[in-house]
Parts: sequence; structure tokens; C-alpha cells
Amino acid sequence: MHIITLAAQKGGVGKTTLAVNLAVAAEAAGIKTALFDLDPQESATAWSERRTAELPHVEPISARRLDQAIDAAEANGFGLTIIDTPPAAGAEAAAAAQRADLVVIPCRPSLIDLDAIKRTAQLITSTGRTGVVVLNAAPPTATTLLDDARTLAEATGLRVARAVLRERSAYRAAWPYGLGVIEHEPKGKAALEVAALQKHIFDDVMNCTPANVKA
Ligand SMILES: Nc1ncnc2c1ncn2[C@@H]1O[C@H](COP(=O)(O)OP(=O)(O)O)[C@@H](O)[C@H]1O
Ligand SMILES: [Mg+2]
Repeated sequence: MHIITLAAQKGGVGKTTLAVNLAVAAEAAGIKTALFDLDPQESATAWSERRTAELPHVEPISARRLDQAIDAAEANGFGLTIIDTPPAAGAEAAAAAQRADLVVIPCRPSLIDLDAIKRTAQLITSTGRTGVVVLNAAPPTATTLLDDARTLAEATGLRVARAVLRERSAYRAAWPYGLGVIEHEPKGKAALEVAALQKHIFDDVMNCTPANVKA
């Protein structure tokens, strides 16, 4: 079973948005997926309660129970576990990063956010895990801004995903229905961007196509 942890020192950068949308995209790609919600605010859990589909399996847990929950997911045939964490590089994020094959760090392409990922980069380096920055909520037409953001993010020593998510209203529109953007507006731009990100993360970064995910 593969494990992806979403982590970022800052709140509001898109951890939960990416967690639920990647979970839905992974499920659609044929990977049985669990999403563990380590954030006491339980936003991902609230999203799942609005949802009618049973999968991805979403469960609120405490950092103390993380190992047990991962073992249970593995025993129950899940191919992927995604862990959403609270903001601040605290004990929960550290525990979840420690267990991850890949730590995904969403970051808005602004100086405030790029400065803040330095702390998250330190956390990931200290755990010896692999981290990848995903530039999120980029203005739809920005190009120079993105190039600059990529250069600054790479200066932290972290890898930066080729796929970028733009600022799209689809994320807010899909949320009240407990849907991912690929379900709510399958042909929309947000859906195409999430699908490209999911493919990039799974194929290129994790080498985790459905065929080689242990079911
Ligand atoms: N790519 C995006 N386009 C538009 N809105 C976004 C995007 N990513 C996140 N948001 C919005 O930003 C807000 C914060 O996102 P959230 O995922 O809750 O961040 P975090 O979990 O890091 O605190 C939410 O209202 C969410 O809908
Ligand atoms: Mg969140």
C-alpha cells in the first residue's frame, strides 16, 4: 500500500482540497483509496458526510491511532492511503510525514506562501521522506508568476510538480455535494488539471499505476 501525506505549515493552501480530489481521482483510476483526516477541524470528514458514494473511505483519526489505522487499511485491501493534516508542522504532520512514501506540499504562488514552505521543507528533510511541492490556486493565465514561484520553491531543495492547479470555482462548487471536481464537472478545466496532477504524482513521482498497486 502506498501512502501520500498532505502537509503544509500554512492553513488555506489547499491540503484538504487536494486530499479529497486526489482521493477521488485515485479511486476513479481503479485504486482502492482511504483518506485519513488528522485535522481536528475534520473538513475532509465533513465533505465525506455530504457524499453518497462509499469510496474513498474517509475516517477521522488521531495521530496516536495512525499506525493502527494504516495497518487496518493494508489488511482491508486498500492500495493507497492519503493523510490530510492540520496546518502547522506539529506532531500530527510529523507522524504522518514519517509514514509517507511521498509528502505533497500544496503552495499558492505568492511570496508569503513560498516563504512558509521553508519550515515544511525542514520537517520533511528531518524525516528523510520525499517531498513534492504542488503549486495550487495559480491565477488562470499567470505564466511568469508561476516560473518565479517554481524557482523559489526549488530553492528549498524540494521537488516541484510539473502539473499545476489553477484557481477554479469548481472546487467550491463540488464541495457541498461531497464530490471531487472530476465527478462534478468531468469536462471542466479543474477536472483536467486534477487528472494530470494525479497521473504525474502516481506515474512519475511514485511509480504507482493501478497495475503495480497491491490491491
Ligand atoms: N485551486 C483552487 N482554486 C480555487 N479555490 C481553491 C483552490 N484550492 C483551494 N481552494 C479553496 O481555498 C480554501 C482553503 O483550501 P483548503 O483545502 O481548506 O486548505 P487547507 O486544508 O490547506 O487549510 C477553500 O475554500 C478551497 O475551496
Ligand atoms: Mg485542511
